[in-house]
Amino acid sequence: MSNTGPARPPIAIDGPAVSGKSSVGRSLASHIGYRFLDTGLMYRAATWNAIKNDVDVNDLVAVAQAAERMDFAVSNGETGGNLIVVNGEDVTKHLHAPAVDDSVSSVASVGRVREIMVAEQRKLASGGAIVMVGRDIGTVVIPEAPLKIYLTATVQTRANRRHRDFIAEGTEIEFEDVIRSMAQRDLIDSSRENSPLRPADDARIVDTDDLTFDEVVNHLVELAKDVL
Ligand code: DC
Repeated sequence: MSNTGPARPPIAIDGPAVSGKSSVGRSLASHIGYRFLDTGLMYRAATWNAIKNDVDVNDLVAVAQAAERMDFAVSNGETGGNLIVVNGEDVTKHLHAPAVDDSVSSVASVGRVREIMVAEQRKLASGGAIVMVGRDIGTVVIPEAPLKIYLTATVQTRANRRHRDFIAEGTEIEFEDVIRSMAQRDLIDSSRENSPLRPADDARIVDTDDLTFDEVVNHLVELAKDVL
C-alpha cells in the first residue's frame, strides 16, 4: 500500500502511560528524519504550572484559567527529545515528578485545557514530518494521519518500567505506589468524557509486552515506509 496524501505526512502514536510511546516515537522520528512531539509533556507543563501557582488541581475553572495564562513553548532538544519552557523557564526536568504524575490526569480531563493544547498541536502538525505521541492524537488531533499506531502493554509491565526509571534517577518510591498511580491514571484517561484514550478505528495495534525496544522501533519503521 502506498500513501496518496501529502509528502511526509504526520504520524500519530497513542497508548496508555509508559507503553513506550515517547522513547519509541523519538527513535522512529530520528530513523525517518521527522520532528518529534510528546504531547503528554504539554499536559504535564499545565499541571506543573498549576501546582507551582498553588491552584487546586481539582478546581476545573481555576485549572483552565491557569492554563490560559500560561505562556509556553515546545522545542526539540539536542537528543531529539522535547524541551518545554513555561513563562521563560525550562521546566522539562520537573515534568515527571510524582506530584505531577498524580495530578496530570485531572488537569488533562479539563475541556478548556485540551482545547488550548490541541490547537497548539494541530499548528505543530500542519507542517508534516512529525511523529506526535499522546492519547488522542489519532482520534482527535490529527485523525487524517495516514499512519496511526496504538502501543499497549499490561499495567504490570508498564509499572515495572516506570519503577525502574524512578530508581535509576534516585527517586525512592514503592512499586505498589507506582502500580496504583498507573492504574488510577489508566482509569481516568480511558473513562473521561473529553477525548478518552482509545485506539482510532484504523489504528495499527502494537502490543509491546513481549517485544524489545529495537523490535518495536523496527516494526514501526516498516509501517512508516508505507506512508513516506
Ligand atoms: O504520556 P504521559 O504519561 O506523559 O501523559 C500525561 C497525562 O496527560 C496522561 O494522564 C494523559 C494526558 N494526555 C492526554 O490526555 N492527551 C495527550 N495527547 C497526551 C497526554
